[in-house]
Amino acid sequence: MSRSRRFFLKSMGASAGMSALYLAGSTNMALAAQNIQDTIAGAGGLMTDNEGFWKAVQKEFIVEKDLIMLNAANMTPTPKIVHDTVIEHTLDMERNCSFQNRAKYGDLNEKSRAFIAGFLGADEDEIGFVRNTSEANNTVINGLDLGPGDEVLIWDQNHPSNNASWHHKAERFGFKVVTVSTGDTLNTVDDLLAPFKAAINENTKLLSFSHISNVTGTTLPGKEMAALAHSVGAKCLMDGAQSFGYMDIDLHDDGVDFYTSSGQKWITGPREASFIYVKKETQPELWSNMVTAGWGGVKDRGARKYENLGQRDDGRVWALGRAVEFQQMIGKDRIEARTSYLASNLIAMIADRIPNSQSLTKQAEGFNSGVTVTLINTPNAAEAARKIYEEHRVSGMISARDDVLRVRLCPHYYITMDQIERTVDALVASI
Ligand SMILES: Cc1ncc(COP(=O)(O)O)c(C=O)c1O
Repeated sequence: MSRSRRFFLKSMGASAGMSALYLAGSTNMALAAQNIQDTIAGAGGLMTDNEGFWKAVQKEFIVEKDLIMLNAANMTPTPKIVHDTVIEHTLDMERNCSFQNRAKYGDLNEKSRAFIAGFLGADEDEIGFVRNTSEANNTVINGLDLGPGDEVLIWDQNHPSNNASWHHKAERFGFKVVTVSTGDTLNTVDDLLAPFKAAINENTKLLSFSHISNVTGTTLPGKEMAALAHSVGAKCLMDGAQSFGYMDIDLHDDGVDFYTSSGQKWITGPREASFIYVKKETQPELWSNMVTAGWGGVKDRGARKYENLGQRDDGRVWALGRAVEFQQMIGKDRIEARTSYLASNLIAMIADRIPNSQSLTKQAEGFNSGVTVTLINTPNAAEAARKIYEEHRVSGMISARDDVLRVRLCPHYYITMDQIERTVDALVASI
């Protein structure tokens, strides 16, 4: 039996009133998702181009009817089970924020941790809750002992939280940051690894990279990158902002030391609730950034020592667990296949219908991502950017510079093929 199927069966329980369910933290996915479960049970397989199934999944989201949300690299809508959980817990706290009523979060947060660990092939003690990838990356950056003579190797496509942050810390502590570029005509894993191999040396203490680039959508091979870092005794930080909730990942198999993520992106979870993964063997080398009330209870409990924040919005941490549970119910292999299918169709349709376009998303063979980035030459770039959102209601990251329109469009599993076609029509009509 597949891991998703096992998890799904475990998740089924007796039905009950919706809010009571969410507050009590039952693992029942509620009646709202019943048709999804039934279709999976009936059809099976990846269902990549089964539009009827994905339309049923889309009904779990309350996105405005005419809006096409293609901005998953930045922020996603959440399924009903997630936003209802956030709302219910917010109201519950307003009604009763006593210590007694908040005691339930001890169990709920652990349940959420177990869902995340199971989803990613990690141990529960390797997961600590933080608010987003920026915080998680900075937990690593501020928690490692680095100084003169040490080097950190980064990718020029890293997000500022894994790039500017390193330079900032290096200024203070005197280590060196080495930046590597990958080529723009990649087609093998070796091509991707080559510039990192050329730059890594015995002074390298950390190899720090985006699993999937938010700049071009290019995917780096996590397992090979981890092995490269370890070959010189360095650690490896894989920024998973663009892969958690899109890609079917097994962290123990990949072997990375640190994996960071955001709840509000591909996992379709709440804002400001996420986690950092720190491999068990690496935990003694990573100091905690924050020490406050409750430290005594977490300092010897694995990666929980990285989540010592003071009071937090615990309902969101539980809602993150529900987001993971929801995706696990659909199947992370199905989600990766569906999103890759939508993204590759989008790239192909744009190339076909817009001759003045250039895709920056160059994938090594066997890799995909949900992030697509295209440059379009048009004399009306600024006006086109306005029209795409305001007149055609396509939401992505779209900017204009001189005669070039830069279009980052990131479909996810709540998008249908019909919306992909309408998006390409909108681009054609706007430029
Ligand atoms: C690769 C990568 N890392 C980190 C981040 C920061 O994410 P957050 O704003 O959720 O902290 C982003 C945001 O787009 C990203 O793409």
